Amino acid sequence: MNPIAACPEAGLPCFDALSLQLEAHGYVVVPEGLPQTVAEELLRYVDNVDASDFHRAGIGRGADEHANRFVRRDHIHWLHESRPDLAEWRSFTDALRTQLNRQLFLGLFSFESHLARYSPGDFYKKHYDAFRGEANRIVSLVCYLNSNWAQGDGGELRLYTDAMTVTVPPNYRSLVLFLSEETLHEVLPTNRERWSVTGWFRLNQSRLDRVDPPR
Ligand code: OGA
Ligand code: MN
Repeated sequence: MNPIAACPEAGLPCFDALSLQLEAHGYVVVPEGLPQTVAEELLRYVDNVDASDFHRAGIGRGADEHANRFVRRDHIHWLHESRPDLAEWRSFTDALRTQLNRQLFLGLFSFESHLARYSPGDFYKKHYDAFRGEANRIVSLVCYLNSNWAQGDGGELRLYTDAMTVTVPPNYRSLVLFLSEETLHEVLPTNRERWSVTGWFRLNQSRLDRVDPPR
């Protein structure tokens, strides 16, 4: 694992290190990388969101319900970032997007994200977040809202990179970035309720005849 120094609050120097690590290794893991203010805002959001506003996550085009349950079990809720109660989240991910563009010339245009709730026994089997050549989701971001995650609670994120396998416990404020098309990954079965926020920095897919909103 290549953990890098914890971010100073809203500190741009940390963003530098983040994008350099992402460029060098295809992923980066930052314990306490999610600023406290952002984590607290997301936790307040979780407290207020209605259980009925979550739905069973799908695996995309044409997948049937049975196949879907075999691949992933979590429930998701899309975050609409124009909401005033997500202002911190929006400014954090905007600043990150700007930095990735500045340093890596990625031309990232938009961002979409969802909350995910994994109940005991839930998992998400090995997958990629984007299909090669579709040039849509470029960088994946995952962060966690679980205090006091203990060994034995399960629910680790496992990344399979060319060089190694990386296992990340879903600790409060841990932040992970990886290249969406290149990084095979999975969520191991969790033994406790587990909260994550997953987002994707995307290229603009708009054409003259079709506007491409983030979500
Ligand atoms: C995803 C995903 C990882 C996690 O939603 O695509 O891989 O740790 N999530 O929640
Ligand atoms: Mn994923």
